[in-house]
Amino acid sequence: MASDQAKIKILVIEDEPMVLEVTVKQLERLGFDLLTATNGNEAIALFEKEMPPIVLTDIELPGLSGIDILKRIKNISPVTQVIIFSGVGTTKDVIEALRMGASDYLVKPVNIGLLTHTVTRCVERFELIKERIERKTILEQEVRKRTAWLRHTFSETIKVLGLLTEKRDPYTAGHQHRVALLAMGIGRKLGLSANTIEIINVAGLLHDTGKIAVPVELLVKPSRLSTLEMNLMKMHPRSSYDIIKDIPFVESLGKDVSEIVLTHHERLDGSGYPGGLLGDQLEQEAKILCVSDVIEAMSSHRPYRPALDMATTKHEIISKKGKAYCPDCVEACLEMIEENGNDARRLFSSLAEESGDGLRWQIHSVE
Ligand SMILES: [Fe+2]
Repeated sequence: MASDQAKIKILVIEDEPMVLEVTVKQLERLGFDLLTATNGNEAIALFEKEMPPIVLTDIELPGLSGIDILKRIKNISPVTQVIIFSGVGTTKDVIEALRMGASDYLVKPVNIGLLTHTVTRCVERFELIKERIERKTILEQEVRKRTAWLRHTFSETIKVLGLLTEKRDPYTAGHQHRVALLAMGIGRKLGLSANTIEIINVAGLLHDTGKIAVPVELLVKPSRLSTLEMNLMKMHPRSSYDIIKDIPFVESLGKDVSEIVLTHHERLDGSGYPGGLLGDQLEQEAKILCVSDVIEAMSSHRPYRPALDMATTKHEIISKKGKAYCPDCVEACLEMIEENGNDARRLFSSLAEESGDGLRWQIHSVE
């Protein structure tokens, strides 16, 4: 008997003193740690306390039968190996026991050689199952660790990509982040799922990525853009789409964020760009992003104008509610604006706090 097997506990449940004595003596000789019980209730209590990996039980016992004990033990611990002692004329019970998950059976009077062989085989089987479970647990832990790491890498890459775009244009620095905060706020007001809110967040952080393809002179021009320049600027949603379309959003978030980004300047009435799409052709996330984008842009300084006051911003979304902008999104925004005293700084500050992201938006906060 190997030294590690010497520690293995075996519970023997037998009401015939002779059989119990012979069995215990032999198993002790093999180096096992023996527990004994003479009836079912005593056996179950002992099993729950000691949790032995191997149990030998007689079928015919006072009170609970061996089959009852087997069922109870398998219910508590499916990996425990239960060996049944059967007397003459109990073939039906043996079949039932094997069907219920018994590992093996021994016919009384028990042959010592057969007892040794059967118990040893059950110990080996238990060790094998234990090893398999341990390996599976380690593997599951590793998968969980790697999934968390991948999620972290994904989210950090998204943030860096968003910041990279804004580095070229100090006037709109922080814009994508604030749009994401506002869009998430709308999502929460509308009772959207945590996953949809995360999709909106990512779309917000990346929606203007395509501005990287717009000449910097246009981004910082201190006067209104000409039609030609405006047309060039209007290409940025398509550029955003082209840049991010190969990121595996569906695998990580369950939805293609690039499609939302592509349509963030579309309007319900078809007056937006680049597709001139109508409301029913737009995803809810795009409609949310659209209103958030407008509010943030109007509340911030631009090279060609100072930040607009909240009354002007509210007038814009109220007057075009249901025409250009999604009514539910407008209502959600108005609620949040009211809650923050019609103050853009307070609005974005509380949204950042709510998202547990209170620092970065302030770097280039609205005045
Ligand atoms: Fe945009």
